[in-house]
Amino acid sequence: LVRTVPFLLWNPESSTLHFFFILNIVLAGSAMAELGRLLIYEASRDCLPTVSGEIQSPMGVASVEFVDPREPVAIVPILRAGLALAEHAASVLPATKIYHLGFSRNEETLQPSIYLNKLPDKFSEDARVFVVDPMLATGGTILAALNLIKECGAENKQIKVVCAVAAPPALQKLSEQFPGLHVYAGIIDPTVNDKGFIIPGLGDAGDRSFG
Ligand code: PRP
Repeated sequence: LVRTVPFLLWNPESSTLHFFFILNIVLAGSAMAELGRLLIYEASRDCLPTVSGEIQSPMGVASVEFVDPREPVAIVPILRAGLALAEHAASVLPATKIYHLGFSRNEETLQPSIYLNKLPDKFSEDARVFVVDPMLATGGTILAALNLIKECGAENKQIKVVCAVAAPPALQKLSEQFPGLHVYAGIIDPTVNDKGFIIPGLGDAGDRSFG
């Protein structure tokens, strides 16, 4: 999505369908935010608690099962770039709580360091935790974030990772250290270069979102 939108904008062969697709994104906000909305919707499939009830239609009473709005999903955006991907979370989930984590990666060592931690003391047994970061490259940042989240009591099965681009080094470490964890990725790219950039990737997602 992030790669195709600029292409379609400049492609005179773009179809009417593409035009409305682009228009939707322009009206909704950035492509990253729109991608986040789609991925978060997928991540929430089958994991939200529901309640039964009845509603009165103009023609009668209908029994319905709907998502319980009293159970917020914990969204953990990893700053900075995670803020852009998580921007529309509230538009697809009935209730959310946001817990910010701020990490920056050292450009030389590629090691993450934390500068903000707004996680709760403890997640409940029923909590569903969506960790949102556009780029999983070497995997250092997401592993550090997940270790902190686990210290707050969340188990692998309660956590979902939402990202725009994932690379094999990060996915390999996640499957070894967090078995059973689900990752929702827009795309899996083949490599990470020696500067820690995913190839082809998107460049620096934080800089592209916030300059
Ligand atoms: C980027 C990206 C991830 C991290 C991925 O953030 O958003 O958080 O790098 O790299 P890794 O998998 O090798 O750890 P960055 O540190 O550039 O911060 P920013 O979002 O503030 O730009």
